[in-house]
Amino acid sequence: MTEFSSNLLKWFKTSGRHDLPWQKNVNPYRVWVSEIMLQQTQVKTVVPYFERFMERFPTIDSLSLASIDQVLHLWTGLGYYARARNLHKTSIIIATELDGQFPDTIDELVSLPGIGRSTAGAILALSMNKRAPILDGNVKRVLTRFFLVQGWPEQTKVKNQLWEIADRNTPLRNFSQYTQAIMDLGATVCKRSSPECLCCPLKSECKGYNSNQTQNYPGKKPKRIMPTKKVCMYIVKNELGEILLEQRPSEGIWGALYSFPEKLPTSRDNEKPVSNKNHCPQLAIPSENYLNTIRHTFSHFHLEIQPKLVKVSKNEFKLDDSKHRVWYSLKNPPTLGLAAPVKKLLAGL
Ligand code: ADE
Repeated sequence: MTEFSSNLLKWFKTSGRHDLPWQKNVNPYRVWVSEIMLQQTQVKTVVPYFERFMERFPTIDSLSLASIDQVLHLWTGLGYYARARNLHKTSIIIATELDGQFPDTIDELVSLPGIGRSTAGAILALSMNKRAPILDGNVKRVLTRFFLVQGWPEQTKVKNQLWEIADRNTPLRNFSQYTQAIMDLGATVCKRSSPECLCCPLKSECKGYNSNQTQNYPGKKPKRIMPTKKVCMYIVKNELGEILLEQRPSEGIWGALYSFPEKLPTSRDNEKPVSNKNHCPQLAIPSENYLNTIRHTFSHFHLEIQPKLVKVSKNEFKLDDSKHRVWYSLKNPPTLGLAAPVKKLLAGL
């Protein structure tokens, strides 16, 4: 075992995290769901979502029998909704094609939707105590600092080098503890900003610490200016206070989630209206009221949303079934997945 791994394992006994919800009643299903939720999301955000998810879907069979709307409903606010769609797809594959049994090899796991090599490694190590390296964001940070690995970790050459280092340092036993230990060190000591090097069990051998360069690692992504896209969203309200929502196409941003009807803004939409005679051609209704613009940032662009409140009469406004439109009651909300800005706008009504 390398000195890196033995010091890490010793530290884990006294200072690692041992009471996270997915560390109780450990099985591949619970570990898989937690690992998917924890991608790009912090532990404290994930915990309540994980607990609600397990209460509603305690087994892979129960998840495979759910509708995608029920799954997205429990995911609302967690973001990156492709994760939820892949989770659902994979549950159906495992329940129907694999007799409900989780695969126990890296190759089989990575062939399933939404499972990459690191997630596969974490499932094998944490739930089956098998030897498999992992390389998530926390691990990349620890390894680039400790071994002074240059360059942006998402670049293929750098990533291959990191996988090799991750593999070399994965011990020949205690796989589950080691895997949890390296993630915990990254999350609680070797933090992105203000790392707590003085408490680190690896500091005496850490090249980053010993050359006072911790803050320069991992290397940054080459900068790219993100474009801003604009969209108008129509908050169509009827006399009962219900709001018109429509299901988005299953591909693209917020795939299959419910959102407001929208259109690309024209130059007139940037001005405040002089009268209320503005018109939404898709809905054939007059627009009344501009609400404050909100901005939502995706991984590769910003979205500027101009919401407009429109009042209609429920009887006169016929729903077109082909668009999957529903009247959403704020008092008695139905089980639907909502995009984060939609949830925010509804909460402000
Ligand atoms: N991040 C990714 N996987 C994790 C886990 N099992 N525990 C804590 N944080 C994590």
